[in-house]
Parts: sequence; structure tokens; C-alpha cells
Amino acid sequence: MSLVVVANREPLRQERGRWVPAVGGLATALLPVLERRGGTWVAWGEKEADAVPRLAHPPEAPRFTVRRLHVPAREVTGSYHGMANRVLWPLAHYFLERVELRRAFYAAYQATNRRFAEAVLEEWTDPATPVWVHDYHLMLVPALLRAARPGARIGFFWHIPWPPPEVWQVLPWTRQLLEGVLGADLVGLHTPEYVANFLATCRTLPGAVVDGQRVRWQGRTIRVEAHPIGIDTARFAQWAAEPRVRERARRIRRMAGTPLVVVGVDRLDYTKGIPERLAAWERLFERYPQWLGQVTLYQIAVPSRTRLPSYRLLKRLVDEQVGRINGAYMRDGWVPVHYLYRAFTPRELTAFYLAADAALVTPLRDGMNLVAQEYAWVTENGVLILSSLAGAASVLPEAVAVNPFDVDGLADTLHEVLASLADEPGRRRWDARRAALKERVAALDVHRWAERFLASLEGSPVT
Ligand code: UDP
Ligand code: G6P
Repeated sequence: MSLVVVANREPLRQERGRWVPAVGGLATALLPVLERRGGTWVAWGEKEADAVPRLAHPPEAPRFTVRRLHVPAREVTGSYHGMANRVLWPLAHYFLERVELRRAFYAAYQATNRRFAEAVLEEWTDPATPVWVHDYHLMLVPALLRAARPGARIGFFWHIPWPPPEVWQVLPWTRQLLEGVLGADLVGLHTPEYVANFLATCRTLPGAVVDGQRVRWQGRTIRVEAHPIGIDTARFAQWAAEPRVRERARRIRRMAGTPLVVVGVDRLDYTKGIPERLAAWERLFERYPQWLGQVTLYQIAVPSRTRLPSYRLLKRLVDEQVGRINGAYMRDGWVPVHYLYRAFTPRELTAFYLAADAALVTPLRDGMNLVAQEYAWVTENGVLILSSLAGAASVLPEAVAVNPFDVDGLADTLHEVLASLADEPGRRRWDARRAALKERVAALDVHRWAERFLASLEGSPVT
């Protein structure tokens, strides 16, 4: 049966005049599902939505439609840049001091959510078709759809952390947002902790009754489940086996010119803990100068949300920090931090994962963090150092867990991990943990994630 997917980001991007699948977990997971089932993906058409309001995909033998919504620039400012990224994003990641409450943001968010719901109703010709709504940009959409189609099957997935109710108390619109989400039949989050927090937040909603993992609300029952998202394991395995990717990995090591290489890969976002990570890198050389000239960090930082002042400020801070570290420690052609401020394709990232002896995945908060899974899956002899405040920590218990705020602790852990990699017997001690992590990542595979969620939504839970 066909499917309607609703997400702020569109699943296709333009490359040399052609529309090709976008990079990223959601598009990778859901494009094959839509190709198989047929249906529609409703999204914000960031560029040229007027000129190209809908696309058939794949172009040569269309299986489904992408409906690209035009959202007026002023509304985008209030809804996407404002409510989504200056209110909900910092709130959900526990950055309460960064939350900027403005009535105009919420008004624009309501308008955009209505715009999305109207477009879905236009596309959704068969009421038996399930609808799957995604993420914090569209919290009001499930209830808007429910009001129009009381008997429909509606799923909602929340891709970022869901904090406890005390945090939600900061928002004047928590009740309305929760009511919006509770228009769904099934609410999915990444971890049991987020599920517990979501249920606890529902308990604060007058008239809602929480019973186990169910919420009774306005005569309906809403199920709340943990569905940790995974990566496209088959594609990463395929890239990792390609000779040109392996050659590129060798080149990355040669360029570093040190016995050991460490990698960090993030959008340049204040939730990712990049300044703390760089501070720990600096601390490593202060406290353990034996590593000078022995280890190189590749930090990939993808430009993100660059219209927002907080993101631009972060860029300045990180630029300066990298400059300071390299200025202080660079010698004899050795560069302590190779800082790459641009986006790479997943195939290119695979070469970095293969090249690195360790990955530093140290977000201050993260819904899941797919980079952690990608590194654990691709690396052949490396060690994953992972923030215990990322959702990924709950599904990857064999990673080396760190507190991303504790710069000294991070430097000490780095020293211990690097020291253990100095000889072959030391390296082999990580083999069992690495193998266990690979099994975990295989089980989480993104295609299975989508299948499991949809099967549960459609009433036949799979294991
Ligand atoms: N990514 C990419 N190119 C880059 C850096 C990252 O394609 O240059 C991908 C990466 O492979 C991962 C995703 O972007 O799949 C980032 O997801 P994650 O959950 O780690 O963080 P998010 O950006 O969603 O907060
Ligand atoms: C996170 C969110 C996604 C979002 C992505 C990139 O992964 O959960 O919903 O699309 O970041 O952010 P952007 O603002 O560029 O869409």
C-alpha cells in the first residue's frame, strides 16, 4: 500500500541540472520504501518551489511524487529559522539559555504547519494510505490531519532528544505542541529514555491518561515506542570495499604524516561539542607532550544553518581555536588539526573512517548520532570514543564512553586510547569490542528501522 511522508527537508537535490537523491539518513531510508510502495513525499522546496512544485521520481520510471511547498521567505524566517531552530532545537538539546521565545515565531510555525497539512490533504487521495510525519518542524501536523480524517493511520517520528517535562515548562506553547503530536496513532523516538520523557510530559497534559506506553487522549489511544534509527549498512560496506575509496584512505594517512590519525565529523552545530573536543585535543598535548608530532586530528565541520547568529559565532570561535592550536604546536610539516569546513559525500567520509585509528564523537546532546554508527561499521582497526549524552550511546555500549563536558577526562581517555594503539597486542585488545559494535550497527540498519516503524503503525509489529 502506498505511503505519504511529510518532512521539512526534501529527499532530492539538484546536481548538474538533474534531481538525485539527497544525502542523509532519512532520504536513504525512505526513498526505497516509497519506490516500493508508491506515494508522496511532502517537503519544503527550499529553492525554486514555484518553478518546480512537484517532481516524479525516479525520472525515467516514476514510482512516487515529491510535492515541494513554497513557503514565503518571511514565514521561513519565523518558522524554520525561528521556532524550529531558535526555540525547539536548543530546548530539546537542553540549551535553555539559547531559547528565544517570540510570539511571531510561533505564529509563523502554526502557518507553516497548516500549509503542510493542507498540501498533505491534497495529495492524500486514498484515506487508507498511512501518513508518516517527521521531526520538530512539524509538531502540529498530526492533529491537523486527524481533524480532517479521524479514521486515518498517522505516524510521527521525533529525531532529536525529548527532554523531561521540567524542560518543556520553559515553553508557553507546550500544551498545543503536545496536542499536535498526539494527533498521531504511533509516536516514535530513538531511545527508551526519550520515550519515558515523552510519556512524563504527556502526564502534564490535562485530560491525558498515560497507561504503560500508551496515552489515552480525546477518546483515542496513542502508542509511544522506541525505534532507534540506523544507517544504510549495505551501502557503507560497498563504499568501504571500493579500491578508490581505500586508496583515498591511504592518501589521508599519508597526508597526516603521523603514526596515528583521529577523525571528527559533524555539522557545525553548538550541540556537537566541537570547542570542548578541540580544547581536549589541546590539553592532550599540554599534559602528554609525547604525542606532539605523533597524532593528527581531521575535523570535518559541515556548514549548517548559517543564517543564524549563534551558528556564525560558533564558526568564528572554532576558526580561532583551530588557528591557536595549530599556531602553538605546528612544527616540521606536522599540522595538529586539519580543519575541513565543507560537506563531503558519504563515500568520501567512508575513506576518512577507514583512515582513522579513532573517532571522536562527543556531542553535548544528540538524538542518535549516525556518524558514530558509520564509523563503528566501517572501521577495520579503530576505536570509537562516544559521548554518553548521545542517543547512540544507548545502542552502542561497547564504545569508549566519555563525558563531553569534561575536557580533562576527555584528554586522559584520548591518551589511554592512543597509548593502547601503539603496538599490535594493544590494538588486538579492541577486536572483540569492535566486532560487537558491528553486530549492533547491523541490527539497527535504517531499512529495518523504517520497516519496523511502519509495521507497527500498520498494526502488525515485527521483531
Ligand atoms: N554527513 C555527510 N557529509 C558530511 C558530514 C556528514 O553526508 O560531510 C552525514 C553523515 O554521514 C551522517 C549525517 O550527515 O549520516 C549526520 O547525521 P548525525 O546523526 O550524525 O547528525 P545530524 O547532522 O543529523 O545532527
Ligand atoms: C537534524 C534534524 C533534521 C535536520 C538535520 C539538518 O538531523 O533532526 O530534521 O534536517 O538536522 O538540519 P537542517 O536545518 O539543515 O535541516
